[in-house]
Amino acid sequence: MQTYEKLLLENKAWAQERVEDDPNFFKRLASLQTPEFLWIGCSDSRVSANEITGTQPGEIFVHRNIANLVVHTDTNLLSVLDYAVTHLEVKHIIVCGHYGCGGIKAAMSNTDYNQVLNMWLRNIKDVYRKHFTELDAIKDEELRSDRLTELNVKEQVSHLAKTSIVQKAWQKRQAPDLHGWVYGLKDGIINPVFEMKANSNIDPLYEYHDLKI
Ligand code: CO
Repeated sequence: MQTYEKLLLENKAWAQERVEDDPNFFKRLASLQTPEFLWIGCSDSRVSANEITGTQPGEIFVHRNIANLVVHTDTNLLSVLDYAVTHLEVKHIIVCGHYGCGGIKAAMSNTDYNQVLNMWLRNIKDVYRKHFTELDAIKDEELRSDRLTELNVKEQVSHLAKTSIVQKAWQKRQAPDLHGWVYGLKDGIINPVFEMKANSNIDPLYEYHDLKI
């Protein structure tokens, strides 16, 4: 059997188990999606949103990319954000990074990963530059990349607050709250490192005063 064929086989078994547990499982999910959370995570195969939070399909709206970045020109991420915030009206957005992130480590290196990856990783290098005094003082490389992972999550959460999408929702319905978390690959535990409640103060430069709600 090919490896991908095993996935299809496992899928059949999974679907059958769900129906045995709850005959209406798929009927309910197929007609309605009302997740309370938007998850922006790393593409790393070890950090699956539903798996590590013990949630079911239908509970978390998910976007993943290398090193869980919120880039203000990324139309893919912004579409997901707009849909989740404006239409699904999620109550919480979680940016979840993870210790030992390959994207973070790559951005800390001087390796040329070719243009597209270089361009993506450049966003993380800019986070490093913002905190270089603190980071350069950490001699252990693993600990330094772990700290950059935390600072990166915090930076990406603040990027969310700078979008008109989030600011409109804050004004209209005092939600969503923004959370920055870091997951530990070694122990499976999530460390909450940063939080911005709805209507938190943001840098006035990024505040919109004439939001069309
Ligand atoms: Co990663």
